Amino acid sequence: MLEIRNITLTLERDGEPVALLDDVSFNVPPGHLLAIVGPSGCGKTTLMKVIAGLKEEQGGEVCWDGRNLAHEGDLHPSELGYVPQFSVAHELLTVEECIASAIALRTRQPDEDATDLLISDTLAQTGLTPLADRLVKVLSGGQKRRLGLALELVTNPALLLCDEVTSGLDPKSEREITQLLHDLARQNEKRIVINVTHSLANLSLYDSILVLHEGCVVYHGPPRALTHYFSIDQAEDVYPKLARRSAARWALSWSRHRDDYYSAYKLSTKKAEEEKEPDIITDREPERIRLPVAKAEDDDSENQAAKKKAKEKEEEARKKEAEESAPHEISSDHQLPGFIAQTRELLQRRWLIFRRDMAQVWLHAAMLIGFPLLVVIFGYQGIKPLSKIPDRPDKDFAAEIAMRQSHEAELLKTGGLVSGLIMFQVVLVTLMASNNAAREIAGERVILERERLGGLRPMAYLTSKILFLGVFVLAQALWMGLFVEMVCHGIPGNLPWKLLLLVMASAAMTSVCLGISAMMRSPEKATILSIYLVGFQLPLSGAVLALPKAIAPIIQPFIAAFWSWSGSLHTLKEQAPEFFEAVKKVTASNIEQPALALFVLSLHVFIGLVFSYAGIKHSQTD
Ligand SMILES: Nc1ncnc2c1ncn2[C@@H]1O[C@H](COP(=O)(O)OP(=O)(O)O)[C@@H](O)[C@H]1O
Ligand SMILES: [Mg+2]
Repeated sequence: MLEIRNITLTLERDGEPVALLDDVSFNVPPGHLLAIVGPSGCGKTTLMKVIAGLKEEQGGEVCWDGRNLAHEGDLHPSELGYVPQFSVAHELLTVEECIASAIALRTRQPDEDATDLLISDTLAQTGLTPLADRLVKVLSGGQKRRLGLALELVTNPALLLCDEVTSGLDPKSEREITQLLHDLARQNEKRIVINVTHSLANLSLYDSILVLHEGCVVYHGPPRALTHYFSIDQAEDVYPKLARRSAARWALSWSRHRDDYYSAYKLSTKKAEEEKEPDIITDREPERIRLPVAKAEDDDSENQAAKKKAKEKEEEARKKEAEESAPHEISSDHQLPGFIAQTRELLQRRWLIFRRDMAQVWLHAAMLIGFPLLVVIFGYQGIKPLSKIPDRPDKDFAAEIAMRQSHEAELLKTGGLVSGLIMFQVVLVTLMASNNAAREIAGERVILERERLGGLRPMAYLTSKILFLGVFVLAQALWMGLFVEMVCHGIPGNLPWKLLLLVMASAAMTSVCLGISAMMRSPEKATILSIYLVGFQLPLSGAVLALPKAIAPIIQPFIAAFWSWSGSLHTLKEQAPEFFEAVKKVTASNIEQPALALFVLSLHVFIGLVFSYAGIKHSQTD
């Protein structure tokens, strides 16, 4: 039994407290399909999120089988299925692959046969068997809703919360999905299915209807009694009728009549439920009982006292019940897969999606091949060794001046080329890195939220991203470094250090952009921020124009390109001092030790990963 008791949630709006949920109480017995209906904005989604544990109530409690979820721990991820309104799956996976992935991430199966059986069962249950091989992106609205349900059914949840899964569909699909919810509630005698909807169609398929109005419960009983209670001819007249009185007055009326309805329809206590026949709500109106209707005179202030008394009575019964209830234990079939199993599944799935996204594959290939080519345009002639100034000056003074001038010009040219080639490589590598990571998390945020609620470990998710993006970091940076090195017949400096710092520049930018991606609500915001970050690398690196001395120490630590470039140039000092002198002629910026550069870039990687983890862990839903 699900018991919602006196749930209150208030928000500040323009300095005024606004009650999103106002003293919401109701019970749902097992094997029951409940509709929560109410006009848009009345708090239906908020209520579902409170039940799912996604939003914290300020007062009241949610009890499952007599267990107070706030005090005795949330529902185990496999006990709960939450289907948001626009539950999405990866567009480039097939229906079957999505279900298989949900199974791998949320359940432990003894062998492949068991997995296959569960896949085919889930497909059959949701009527998706004929669509098993179809890609998610071509599914219709109704089919997507079915898939959303299927993904939650793999753990055989006892509580299935659906937010508007029947809304926005054509009437036929709406009825089919409602029928499916009805069947799902019947299938497992312990299961409770709650569907939130603003639609008043197909109410007869539900066991009970709860009407929410401005955050207050104003009715909860079987569909047939709804018209009776509100004294209306048809369910569609409920909303106009509600608008005639304030929510508080409707709520007060309901608090007076609730007990009568609850005892008539056996919605009241756990004990009463245990005695009931499996199908409690029959199509028959209980004739013996003359149920009251909501009346204007219900609003007397003396009813407040009655309400208070009822509340006290309820409180007492609840305490007694809580004392009797046994401590909750998670059964062994509720065990989540381990960290490695989840990571492996996510990684395999990510590669599959990448391979199917041909536009992405081509873009990556074009950057991987094109960017190093872009660099070598400037250095294909190679870097010529620098001429030496003879020890003894030329006797001809004019010749001596001309020689020195030409040597100076040569130094400037070569220094500029070496510094430029290194900076160009670094900037292009960071550009690729930001392109790799910017959308990586933000682009699948809704799916991540759903999977997190289903028991996905944030660390497994982050690890899968590190492993996936790590391949790009290595491939792009190493290929860039080695290709340019080969075509330009070697750029002065220590090659292993240069490659390492190029890889680290890529890793730093990837990690920071991944952090941005995890923190942002939309992929567009994450992309724009990442582009700005790359765009500022070159001007703020100090490679072209030195930063003013006063601000350089403040800005430089944040510029990955500066450290990679600067550390690489420093390796010239020992390996090719004449080039080091040449480079120093073209830059006024400080040239830092490679070890220090490596340390700072590692710090970037670390900070980016910390932000990524925090962003993954922290829900981005309202
Ligand atoms: N995070 C939030 N901050 C401010 N107002 C919110 C927030 N979440 C919901 N609301 C407001 O609470 C009310 C109820 O929202 P919701 O539960 O989504 O309604 P429903 O699902 O019934 O359409 C709406 O008026 C909505 O604007
Ligand atoms: Mg809603």
